[in-house]
Amino acid sequence: MSATDFDYLFKLLLIGDSGVGKSCLLLRFAEGSFSDSFMSTIGVDFKIKSLQFEDGKVVKLQIWDTAGQERFRTITSSYYRGAHGIIIVFDVTDEESFKNVTSWISEIENYASDSVCKLLVGNKTDLVEQRVVSRQQAEELAQRLGIPYIETSAKTADHVEEAFVMMTKEIR
Ligand code: GTP
Ligand code: MG
Repeated sequence: MSATDFDYLFKLLLIGDSGVGKSCLLLRFAEGSFSDSFMSTIGVDFKIKSLQFEDGKVVKLQIWDTAGQERFRTITSSYYRGAHGIIIVFDVTDEESFKNVTSWISEIENYASDSVCKLLVGNKTDLVEQRVVSRQQAEELAQRLGIPYIETSAKTADHVEEAFVMMTKEIR
């Protein structure tokens, strides 16, 4: 398959607090690997990954991974406009990252196009003992916001591919 052999090109954006696992989710999805060491993203980074659907159509995903740190907010917000889909990630072991989901939604309202598709992701489900945000709490928030919700673990790979497929299907 050549580099231009695709039916659709979608731009996705990963947002959420620093440390929730955005870069790890992307690394897991695009390269199938994981690292326990934390290398906070500087500005923005991106990876490409193609998905083939049951109907034979190939979707090429250009996935932008943004820095969660406040000091990069001006740079990262400039990437919202061109996105077809935005994945808001929080960490199920970090209450603060869950509370901040509504602030991230405001960022989308301010900077993204009105037709942008959204997906809420609760990551780090492998840390069962440390979990502080329940599935029910997250589902209730997602329902209030009118967006789909899925739980993942970048570490074990649980539901990572499903999350990106879900996002892509929502756009198609
Ligand atoms: P910024 O780039 O600063 O915005 O952070 P980020 O959201 O990209 O976080 P990153 O992916 O770098 O992950 C932060 C830390 O969480 C790292 O130490 C990862 O190893 C860890 N981590 C990420 N995902 C998981 C997961 O699913 N389970 C566990 N146990 N740890 C994870
Ligand atoms: Mg990162």
